[in-house]
Amino acid sequence: MQKLSARLKAGGKTVGLVPTMGYLHEGHLSLIKNSKQKSDVTVVSIFVNPTQFAPNEDLKKYPRDLEKDKKLLRKYGVDYLFLPSEKEIYPKNFQSYVEVKNISKILEGEFRPTHFKGVTTIVSILFNSVNPDYAFFGQKDAQQAAIIKQMVKDLKFNIKIIVCPIIRESDGLAMSSRNIYLSNQERSDALILNKSLRTAEKIIKEGERSSSKIINAAVKMVNSVASSQLDYLRIVESATFTEVKKLIRGKSYYILVACKIGKTRLIDNILIKI
Ligand code: PAJ
Repeated sequence: MQKLSARLKAGGKTVGLVPTMGYLHEGHLSLIKNSKQKSDVTVVSIFVNPTQFAPNEDLKKYPRDLEKDKKLLRKYGVDYLFLPSEKEIYPKNFQSYVEVKNISKILEGEFRPTHFKGVTTIVSILFNSVNPDYAFFGQKDAQQAAIIKQMVKDLKFNIKIIVCPIIRESDGLAMSSRNIYLSNQERSDALILNKSLRTAEKIIKEGERSSSKIINAAVKMVNSVASSQLDYLRIVESATFTEVKKLIRGKSYYILVACKIGKTRLIDNILIKI
C-alpha cells in the first residue's frame, strides 16, 4: 500500500482515503463520493478494528459482508480497496498506541473508555499505510472526527481531514451498520434519537438559550420510549467539545445523543448555529 501510494503521488495524483469497518451503507458511500470529487484516486479501507472494541462490546458479531462491499465499491468506482489482515495491522509483540488525551475522555469516552485510543491507533496506522492527501470522516461520529483532527494537528500528519454530513434514512434514523441489530419495534423506537435532537433544535429556534432546559426537554422525550436507556444527551461547543451552560449567538454547537435501544447502542447528533 505504501509503495502504491508513493507511485501514485510521484505521478502527480492526489490520494483520498475513506477508512471504514465495512458493511457499507449510504453514509459510507457519501464519503466515497466526496473523496472521488476531491481526489484523483480514492482508497477505501475495510478493517474491523479489534482495539476499539471493549471486551463486552460487539466485535465478534459486528456485521460483515465483504462480497457485497466489494460490489458496492466497484459500482461507485473506487480505485483501491485496502483490506489488511489483523496480523498485518497488529502483529505479535505490537505495543505502540496513539492517544488523544482530553477529548477522548468525555462523552463517548465516559462510556467507552478505551474506544478512542483504538480508533486513533488504527487511523494512524491507516494514515501511515496509505499516506493520503485527504481523509474523509462522517459527522455521524462527530467526536471521532474532532479527535482525529486534533491528532493530525498534534502529530503533524500532512493530511487534510474532511468531515461530511450525516446521511439518514427517509424517516430520520441516522444510517449505521449497527441498525441491522434492531427488531422492527426497536427500529421504530430508534427514531426517538433524531426526534429528540429535532425537538432540542426547535426549542433553540424558539429562543431558549439555557442548555439544561433544552436538554431536559429532549431527555424527557427519549425516556418516554420504553426500550430506551439513555447514556447521554449533551450540548457542546463544536470547535472545542466543551459543555456550556448557555448558548451564545454566533457560535456553533453539537447536540449529541447516545442511547441504547434494547441491546443496541446508537449515537446521533446535530450541528446548530445560533
Ligand atoms: P465505520 O463505523 O465503518 O464508519 C466509517 C466512516 O463512515 C466514519 O467516518 C463514520 O463517521 C462514517 N459514517 C457512518 N455512518 C454515517 C452516516 N450515516 N452518515 C455519514 N457518515 C457516516 O468509524 C469507523 O468505522 C471506525 O471508527 C474507523 C474510523 C474506520 C476506525 O476503525
